[in-house]
Amino acid sequence: MIEFISDELINTQKEYMKSVRLINQDKKRTAVVVTYGCAQNETDSDKLYAMLFEMGYQKGTDEKTADLVIYNTCSVRENAEVKVYGKVGTLKAKKKKNPDMVIGVCGCLMQQPHASERIKKTFPFVDMVFGTHVIHEFPKMLHQVLTQRERVISVDSVDGVIAEGVPVVYDKWYKASIPIMYGCNNFCTYCVVPYTRGRERSRHSRDILTEINTLVQGGLKEVTLLGQNVNSYGKDLENDMDFADLLSAICEIPEIKRVRFVTSHPKDLTDKLIGVMKEHKKICNSLHLPFQAGNNRVLKEMNRRYTREDYLNLVRKIRDAVPDIALTSDVIVGFPGETEEEFYDTLSLIKEVRFDNLFTFIYSPRKGTKAALMDDPRTYEEKLKNFNELLEVQTEICREANEAYLNNTYEIIDEGLSKNNPQMRQGRTTTNKVINYKQNAAVSEGDFVTVRVTEVMSWSLVGEQV
Ligand code: SAH
Ligand code: SF4
Ligand code: F3S
Repeated sequence: MIEFISDELINTQKEYMKSVRLINQDKKRTAVVVTYGCAQNETDSDKLYAMLFEMGYQKGTDEKTADLVIYNTCSVRENAEVKVYGKVGTLKAKKKKNPDMVIGVCGCLMQQPHASERIKKTFPFVDMVFGTHVIHEFPKMLHQVLTQRERVISVDSVDGVIAEGVPVVYDKWYKASIPIMYGCNNFCTYCVVPYTRGRERSRHSRDILTEINTLVQGGLKEVTLLGQNVNSYGKDLENDMDFADLLSAICEIPEIKRVRFVTSHPKDLTDKLIGVMKEHKKICNSLHLPFQAGNNRVLKEMNRRYTREDYLNLVRKIRDAVPDIALTSDVIVGFPGETEEEFYDTLSLIKEVRFDNLFTFIYSPRKGTKAALMDDPRTYEEKLKNFNELLEVQTEICREANEAYLNNTYEIIDEGLSKNNPQMRQGRTTTNKVINYKQNAAVSEGDFVTVRVTEVMSWSLVGEQV
């Protein structure tokens, strides 16, 4: 059962925030939240920070010196998991020196019993262990740690809740990521997300629109709508909008100039949505549409519920409607039982579609998923060889896709100084390409700027303001 958290319960949390603020009075407390994983985890961390600020903490510079450290974990692949154990271990000595330090571990990995048990047993100095469903109760948990100096553990597995009214901070004033739904019902056989994030549940459209309209007053121009499968937005709500309607409603807000969304599941992308994408120029010309594998037997074993042909048809329809759209995707190499021949079906799909960018993963077995129990006869080295072959092909495709940008001009939203070269600034096109550019007139972060592309790299573009 999906539960909407009542205003009353949210107000109780506000009382806890006040109490913690009093405890921290006159002490200069700093906090650091370290985030792993996807945009969903980022938005959870934004909520943790907002609550911490209300409780008298300031953002610290690093984990080693902060009074409070939280690791917001991800469990989608093994390397994300391994990293966390190492990181938490390094805090042991810090905590010994400063017994007042508060350490928390939260997020998706903590919804997996083997992992939360390991954190509890191996790291007795961790004060708080909590999962994805109780973020809104963070003030209460922290209050308990500070006043009673006892460990708080809250990792129950539930279908999931929706908590509105939890404070949140936004990184930038001109662009924001807004979750429109939580959880996932798809149970792709390799994936742990349905277990860590619970069932699919949509926020009411009025809450989403209110949030956006409030941010617009601060200058918001670009919004990214978040969900594991945004195409099924609203299916669980009676008398509310579907995803296409929600997009249209957001495009009606005059101050909003750009709308993006991730992630789309191919099986739920409707003709109605394609129509809306064609109609509204504010919807950015980029679409992330994970295909995962190019072979029908593998797709079936993955429980993706579309075929290679369905996927290619969908790509055709989208490109017919929005010809200059940039397509990106996710792909897994080495799913259990995938043969080398089947891998070549993935490679041929990549060559056929020619994605602008691809997020490539080697299959990683996850506890609790169906695929983890499947026979997996191929060695890691064999998979790695295929993976590298795929990367090589994709790098070339990316470069060629970028070459089409050379000497053309694009409107970007400036995002400040370039990360690789502080002499330059950077911004993104509607197709979500980063252009590092030379400034020729006054520019402030968040401005629309017209830029001509003067040089092309495999993964980015270089340009000049015109
Ligand atoms: N909801 C999104 C994806 C979320 S996870 C979607 O369905 O598209 C992001 C990506 O991680 C997935 O698209 C998949 O390519 C990859 N992934 C998930 N589980 C994995 C696993 N066990 N091993 C390797 N890659 C995995
Ligand atoms: Fe995982 Fe599949 Fe759900 Fe995406 S749609 S989160 S890959 S189960
Ligand atoms: Fe995201 Fe990782 Fe959780 S990808 S939903 S943070 S398992």
